[in-house]
Amino acid sequence: MKVLILPDAGSAALRCAGILADCLGRNPAAVLGLATGETMRPVYAGLVDLHGAGRADFARATTFNLDEYVGVGPDHPASFATFMREALFDHVNLDPARAHLPRGDAADPEAEAARYEAAIVGAGGIGLQLLGIGRNGHIAFNEPTSSLGSRTRVKTLTEATRKANAPAFAPGPVPRHAITMGIATILQARACLLLATGAAKAAAVARMVEGPLGADCPATALQLHPEATVVLDEAAAQDLHLRDYYETVHPGGAEVQLR
Ligand code: GLP
Repeated sequence: MKVLILPDAGSAALRCAGILADCLGRNPAAVLGLATGETMRPVYAGLVDLHGAGRADFARATTFNLDEYVGVGPDHPASFATFMREALFDHVNLDPARAHLPRGDAADPEAEAARYEAAIVGAGGIGLQLLGIGRNGHIAFNEPTSSLGSRTRVKTLTEATRKANAPAFAPGPVPRHAITMGIATILQARACLLLATGAAKAAAVARMVEGPLGADCPATALQLHPEATVVLDEAAAQDLHLRDYYETVHPGGAEVQLR
């Protein structure tokens, strides 16, 4: 796992925006996996700025988001579809027909999950998957005890996750289920890029990077991925035991210079 520690949340988010823009620069027809959550807002703001500066062209790109709440249609104000339109899609030249999210309001959510998994395969698989992490170590909505072999499916949310995501639905209730890419779906992306910022994520980050692979922290599955980059700010990195080593390899979050 490549661990890049940036001085603050803003520079960590911009680093991720730059990595996504570079991916599009190398492959304008890239298939990007996208994430939601408050951590991602500055990443998308950075991408919008890069797009404005002519450094992020989405004209030929395809995107697949990680997840969506069951029972929530794309026009619901708390849907991840709305989040993505507001944060990114409405501000860049991505073809809406190639911006995919699971349909939370599908009549048969399990069938929708299977359709979504097949759509990812049909698009040639995900090239670069952006990820956040939940305080309990979840990635996408793969809550603790999710199978490492899981594919896109319906998951029941933990009370902790529902509480963390409650502000978006206030004063209404948070849905109990979500359609989410599985852990195996995520591990099949050719590269993964996880961003975590803030002290509230420090324990989950330490477990993900340095702890034993385990069902109680689904993000530890990234230890199995050969191309996983974790971008952190100082606060999210504070519980890492091998922090000095990461600083030695990537001083200030810089790439490795082998000569
Ligand atoms: C939700 C999303 C995850 C995200 C997590 C953390 O549960 N399904 O993809 O990583 O929230 O969100 P935040 O960045 O708001 O802490």
